[in-house]
Amino acid sequence: MRAAVLQEFGQPLVIQEVAIAAPGPDEVLLRTAAVGLCHSDLHYMQGMRKIPLPGVLGHEVSGVVEAVGERVRDLQPGDHVVGALSVFCGLCRQCLGGRFALCMDTEVKQPPGKARRLSHGEQPVSQVFNLSGFAEKMLVHRNALVQIRKDMPLDRAALLGCAVITGTGAVFRNAQVPAGASVAVVGCGGVGLAAVNGAQIAGAARIIAIDNVPGKLELARKFGATDTLLASEGDVVARVQEMTQGGVEFSFECIGLPATVEQCFRMLQPGGTATIVGLFAPGAKASIEGSEFFLEKKIRGSALGSARIRDDIPRLVELYLQGRLNLDDMVSRRIRLEDINEGFAAMQRGEVARSVIVFDGVGG
Ligand SMILES: NC(=O)c1ccc[n+]([C@@H]2O[C@H](COP(=O)([O-])OP(=O)(O)OC[C@H]3O[C@@H](n4cnc5c(N)ncnc54)[C@H](O)[C@@H]3O)[C@@H](O)[C@H]2O)c1
Ligand SMILES: [Zn+2]
Ligand SMILES: [Zn+2]
Repeated sequence: MRAAVLQEFGQPLVIQEVAIAAPGPDEVLLRTAAVGLCHSDLHYMQGMRKIPLPGVLGHEVSGVVEAVGERVRDLQPGDHVVGALSVFCGLCRQCLGGRFALCMDTEVKQPPGKARRLSHGEQPVSQVFNLSGFAEKMLVHRNALVQIRKDMPLDRAALLGCAVITGTGAVFRNAQVPAGASVAVVGCGGVGLAAVNGAQIAGAARIIAIDNVPGKLELARKFGATDTLLASEGDVVARVQEMTQGGVEFSFECIGLPATVEQCFRMLQPGGTATIVGLFAPGAKASIEGSEFFLEKKIRGSALGSARIRDDIPRLVELYLQGRLNLDDMVSRRIRLEDINEGFAAMQRGEVARSVIVFDGVGG
């Protein structure tokens, strides 16, 4: 099969033939239908976190089941699925506590380089995020998959697996934003736009979208933003405080920069909660004014919005099919596997919410 392979950090991905193994007892072989380009992939391509190379990235995926291992009873060939990097074992302390996104079983959630599912000649190829969706086929553990209705378009379904489950989960599961709340979302790429949309679905009264690209702010209105702020113009914190007479109840950082994390904490009203979704480089630190803890301000992290994929993804499908979750405007471009490097360049130029690779012959 063809795959986009990361050979060297900081270099373009290379399209090449990669071999894929047959399903083991708990594994499922999929034809990839669609895969979104997420900024986390770009972080890894740039070497922000080192993985054994060569490797195949891509973790925002949908597909069609081609074959299943002997212990897989809930899926059969032809089923439509969404994959997520938060594969879970169902047995460890984190899973039993309902924190499936934090599953620590490294037999199921294998670090890059451990799985022997992909290869090129004699050379192993790392499966990254347990999925490796930048390829025509995927071989994954059954607990990385969620079956979806066949009337759900597969190109938009792919976005549910990372950007949408993360952004909406940060709102629904992490912050638990109630109706009438005031919210600010800093960074309106795929993840931030999903957080804006989640806040709208939750019934937030005020949703302030903040980005340094004007086009993203226009887009944010289509996802439910009531106000927008161009980050490059003036003091973001002062402007949010002015607009809300003292700060928001909930802020969401969807970029991964110390400066914007600090903004998210400072723009809170007393008692408010900042949820940090953006991925930090190892060793990066944000600085918090300690005296503000007396104001009962809170700051918390988020892994895939604490997703419980088997509950959350079918619900998000329903919300999309009812017209309440906006996925249509999140697909800025449909591209082919060979256009992947241009897709990441467009992300870096701030031109797209999401580029989605759509594969031939698998329904859109
Ligand atoms: N915690 C998780 O589970 C999880 C899951 C998915 C993605 N992520 C991370 O979330 C972050 C966002 O991912 P994405 O795919 O939406 O990225 P993206 O590149 O699509 O979006 C980032 C947005 O931030 C804006 N931006 C950049 N610098 C800014 C600044 N200084 N002020 C205001 N806006 C600025 C950009 O214009 C862009 O719109 C990344 O760090 C990604 O790795 C985390
Ligand atoms: Zn992602
Ligand atoms: Zn587990």
